[in-house]
This record gives sequence, C-alpha cells and structure tokens, in this order.
Amino acid sequence: MFLQSLALIAYSCFLITFPPTVSATNDVTIEPHIPGLTRSILHSSSSGEDYDFTGPTTLQWGWDMQTITRAAQRGEKWLYQPFTWLIYQVGSDMKDLLESDIVFNMSCQYELSTKITQGDRFQVELSIKEPYIAPIGNTTPDSMAHGGYIICPEGICQNDKCKDWKVPKWDRSYIELWSPKQTATPMPTPMPADETSVAQFSSAPISQSSQSS
Ligand SMILES: *[C@@H]1O[C@H](CO)[C@@H](O)[C@H](O)[C@H]1NC(C)=O
Repeated sequence: MFLQSLALIAYSCFLITFPPTVSATNDVTIEPHIPGLTRSILHSSSSGEDYDFTGPTTLQWGWDMQTITRAAQRGEKWLYQPFTWLIYQVGSDMKDLLESDIVFNMSCQYELSTKITQGDRFQVELSIKEPYIAPIGNTTPDSMAHGGYIICPEGICQNDKCKDWKVPKWDRSYIELWSPKQTATPMPTPMPADETSVAQFSSAPISQSSQSS
C-alpha cells in the first residue's frame, strides 16, 4: 500500500513537470506551434482522453518505434492521427471559451511516414493564413513532405463573421507542392489573426528553411 502511494506520488510529479505534451511516447514526434485564438482538441482512441490546448503554444504528438515498424511491416506508408482545430474570432476570451466565438471548425490530422528514423522530430508552424503550415527549426520543406506534417483537408465556417472568408484548408497535394514562395500569396479576405505569431511565421521560420535546403 505504501509503495503504491509512493508510486502514485512519483507518477503525479512526473505528469506535473512535463511541458504541454499530448502523448507519452516520443520516439518520433510532430511538433506543431499553434497560434493564439486557436485551440487543438485531440481525442486519443487508445487512452480515451481528450487533449485540449489553447494557443499560442507548441504541441508534441509522438509515436513509438514499435507502432511505426509494425505499420511498415503491414505495408502501410503513413500513420494518421486526427484532431480538431478550432479558430476563434478576434477579441475572444481564450480563458472563458464561448461556442459562439468559434469561426472555423477544422478537421485536421497528423501524418507520419513509416520510413522515418528513431529520434526524428518534425517541427511546423500552423497559421490560419497561407501558407497555413511552414517547417521551422531543423525541419525543411523536403523532410516535412516526406516525414511528418499536418493537413486540415476539411473545415466549416460556423459563424456569420466568416461567411465571406476563405476556409483555411489544405491537403496532401498542397504539402507536396509546398514552397516558401507561398508566403507571397496575398490575403484575399480579412482573417482573425494573432499578429505576433503571424509575424514570426512569415520571417524567421521561412528564411531558415530556405537557407538549409
Ligand atoms: C467541430 O466539428 C466536429 C465534426 O467535424 C464536431 O464533432 C464538433 O462537435 C465540432 N466542434 C465544435 C466546438 O463545434
């Protein structure tokens, strides 16, 4: 009984000291930075838990090598993990979330190649403006497209505010053609945006990845 309590205390401390991480296994990770005014909700079918995080923050979704190797042996080229990405209107109180403040409800997924190497980390920045996703850190456009990334191929505007706005959705063919030049795409319509994260998004991350490729 005493040992059990001790283990429980140790386990709780372990949980408390961890940064916002949405999985326990991290042999290979996809690490998206999500901007302010957005929220990621991932329902894990294995643990039954909902992992719900509000931006701006960096998330980390991981896989263990055994899962990846087994999928590769079954002939699967990719692993998928769906999540919902909610985008709130400018001025929303992100500490007191209101359903009526949601503008877009996006259906997204992590996609990880089964040809990765243990220790690979795919770091990306998500944005509600084009180019929507960009590699950051040591991740290059090429390693992202062949290793790990996020797509949001479906999504709806569920508020009068966004009825004339472009839904921020993209699919795998967009990732295959991804180029830093997409940052030059002018915004056709006003979008709710966290200006700080948009600024980071279009300067440092893009120039880093084009230098290293
Ligand atoms: C977002 O859409 C999904 C279906 O795609 C739905 O299950 C979910 O309830 C929606 N969330 C909100 C907050 O509207």
